[in-house]
Amino acid sequence: MTARMNALTRVSGLLYGGDWNPEQWPEEVWAEDVKLMAEAGVNLVTVGVFSWARLQPAADVWDFGWLDRLLDLVHGHGIAVDLATATASPPAWLVRAHPELLPVTADGVRLEFGSRQHYCPSSAVYRAAAARLTRALAERYRDHPALALWHIHNEYGDHVQECFCPASAADFRRWLRERHGTVEELNRSWGTAFWSQRYGSFDEIEPPRTAPGPVNPTQLLDWRRFCSDALLALHRTEKAVLDEVSPGVPVTTNFMSMLKSLDYWEWSRHEDLVSDDAYPDPADPRAHVNAAMNYDLMRSLKGGKPWLLMEQAPSAVSWRPVNLPKRPGLYRLWSLQALARGADGILHFQWRASVAGAEKFHSAMLPHRGTASRGWRETVRFGADLRRLGELAGTRMRGQAAVLLDWDSWWALELDDHPSARMRWPDLLRPWYAALHDRGVTVDFVPPTGAFDGYRLLLAPNLYLLDTATADRLTAFVTAGGHLVCGPFSGISDRHDHIHPGGHPGPLRPLFGVVVDEHWPIPDGAATAVRLDQGGAELRAEHWSEWIDTEGAETVARYASGELAGLPAVTRHRHGTGSAWYLGCHLGADVGRVLDLPLAEAGVAAEVADLPTGVEATRRRAEDGTGYLFLLNHGSAACRVTLGEPGTDLLTGTDVAEGVTLAPLGAAVVRVRPVPRTSASPSPSTPAEERA
Ligand code: GAL
Repeated sequence: MTARMNALTRVSGLLYGGDWNPEQWPEEVWAEDVKLMAEAGVNLVTVGVFSWARLQPAADVWDFGWLDRLLDLVHGHGIAVDLATATASPPAWLVRAHPELLPVTADGVRLEFGSRQHYCPSSAVYRAAAARLTRALAERYRDHPALALWHIHNEYGDHVQECFCPASAADFRRWLRERHGTVEELNRSWGTAFWSQRYGSFDEIEPPRTAPGPVNPTQLLDWRRFCSDALLALHRTEKAVLDEVSPGVPVTTNFMSMLKSLDYWEWSRHEDLVSDDAYPDPADPRAHVNAAMNYDLMRSLKGGKPWLLMEQAPSAVSWRPVNLPKRPGLYRLWSLQALARGADGILHFQWRASVAGAEKFHSAMLPHRGTASRGWRETVRFGADLRRLGELAGTRMRGQAAVLLDWDSWWALELDDHPSARMRWPDLLRPWYAALHDRGVTVDFVPPTGAFDGYRLLLAPNLYLLDTATADRLTAFVTAGGHLVCGPFSGISDRHDHIHPGGHPGPLRPLFGVVVDEHWPIPDGAATAVRLDQGGAELRAEHWSEWIDTEGAETVARYASGELAGLPAVTRHRHGTGSAWYLGCHLGADVGRVLDLPLAEAGVAAEVADLPTGVEATRRRAEDGTGYLFLLNHGSAACRVTLGEPGTDLLTGTDVAEGVTLAPLGAAVVRVRPVPRTSASPSPSTPAEERA
C-alpha cells in the first residue's frame, strides 16, 4: 500500500519533524540542517515560534529576508513548513514602549521581560501588535509552496493564564455584562447577599485579587471562565487574520494535554486540527497511562479526527528538578503510542539542540554531540519506522466507552472551602482511566453537550457542577439502554455553583435512586473498607465517603469499617432499559473492581483479549475497513501476544499468524483484514463531530 495523503497538511504520509529555531544559528548551519532532516525523513518543521524580535526588530522595521531564504531552502529539500505566527514572546522594544502590556499577578506584581509569554491577555496593544505581525507573515507567505500549516502563538496558558491589571479588570467587567446582563442578575448568580458582597454597578467589580479571606466562589468560577475566553479571544484574533489572508491553509495552536486553565472543548471549535505538546516523565513507570489519557482527549476534541503530536522531547527535558533521558527504545515506543491513539504525525521540541538560553540542556532530534550520538540514531530509526507506517495517515481510532469531561465542573470542583481539598479532577479521573487502560478498554472523552448515544457505557468520575439540561441528557441516555457510572461528590451545584436543594446528587437523584445525606471525607493516610455484596471482595476507600440512603437503587457494595459501616457505598439503579451506577466513595486504585461490573453489563471488553501485563493494544481503522492493531509493550520483559486474526506487521514487513512476540519496549503494528463490527464498537461517525 502507498502512503495516503495526510488530511492535516496535504503532506503525504505521516508527519515527522519538530520546532526548528534557525535564528539561533548562522545560516551556514542551515544547509547541514536540511541535509540531515532529509536523511532522517523529516517532512514538516515548525519555524518562527520565537522569532518576533528577529522578524520585526523595531516598530516599523521588518526583516523577512532570512525567513524567505529559509523557506526556499526547506522547500528545495522537499520539506514542508508549519509556520508560526511568532507572537508568544513580544520583543523588548514593544514592552518598553508599552510596559502596561506586561501581566500582573493577583498580588499586584508586574512580571518582567526576560522570559516569554510576558503579556496581558486583555492588552489591546499586545493584541494589535500580534495581529499586525500575523497579517504581515500571512501576506508574505500565503502562497509559498513550503507552507503546509499555520501555527498560532505557542502553548497559550503555559506561563501566563491570568492577569489582574486594570485592562484585565475592564475586560472582565465587559465579559460579566455580556454574561449576566444586569448587575441584579450578577448579584443573584454570585450570591452576593452572603458577607455583604452586593454590587451597585458593574464598575464596582474587580478581578479576584488577593483578599483577606475566602473570595466569592462564583466570582472565582466566572474568573476562570473569563480567563479561558480572554486567551481564546487572542487566538481568535490571529485565526481571523489567517482565515482572511491565507484561506485554505489549515491552522492549529499547540495544546498542553489536559490543561485545567483552558476549556479545550470550546477552543477546539476554533482549530482546523488539534495539536498537542506532551512530555511524559521517563522517571515515572506509569507515565504511558497518563499519556494515553491525554492522547485520547486530543483525539476526542475533534470527534476522532487525526491530530498531531506537535511537541515531545526526543529524550530528556530541562525543566523538571531531575531530568531523566529516555532509555533506548522508550522514545520509539512512546512515539508509536501517540500514533496508536490517533495521531497522524510526531513532532518534537526541538530539531537542533540550543547552545544558549534556558533550554540548552533540553534534548533534541539532533543532539549537541551531532550525528555520532545515540539520540541521532533514534531519530533516524524512527523516521524510517514512520515511512513504513505511511498508510496509517487519515485512519481513525475510536474508543469503546466514553468519559465525560466538563471544564466548568473541574473549575468549580477545585474551588476552596469544600468538604475536602483532596477532591481534585485529575486525582479522581486517573484511577478510573488507569483501571480501564489496564483492562485494555479504550475510551473517548465527551463534553456534557455531546451526543452520548454512540456508546453503551458512559463514565463520569466526577460531575460536581451539573445543570438540569445535562442531567436530562444523562437520564435519556440511560432510559434508552445506556449504562452510566458516576463517581462521588456529583450533582452538587448548578452553573452558578449554587447547591441543588433537596439532597445530592441533585437532579440525578431519580436516575441513581439514591440521596446523599452527608459527606464524610476520610482523613489523609486513613482508609475505609468497602465490601462488594457479591463475592465479598474487600476494597479500600480513601479521601472520600458519603452517607447514602437508597431510593430504589440496589446496593452493590457497602462500607465494612468506620462510622458508615453497613451503609451503601456503591449502588446500581435500573432505569428504562439501562442502568445507573453511583460510587459514593473514592476507591483509588481499587476502582477497577467496581468498574468491572458495568463493563460486563454493557458488554465492553478489551480490544485484544488476554493481553500480557504492560501491553497496550489499540486499533485504528481505514475507511475501507482495514484495521491496524498497535501492540505496545511497556513492560521490561519480553512477552507473547496471541492474535485472533492474521496480518502483517508493518514495522518489520513480516506476516503474523497466531501472534507476535514483543521485546521489552517492543512494538508491532499489524495490518489486519476488515473485521465485522461488534455491538461494542460503534460506527465511525462520532458524537463530538456531530456536535461540531
Ligand atoms: C514547551 C514549549 C517549547 C519548549 C518545550 C520544552 O512547553 O512549547 O517551546 O519550551 O516546552 O520542553
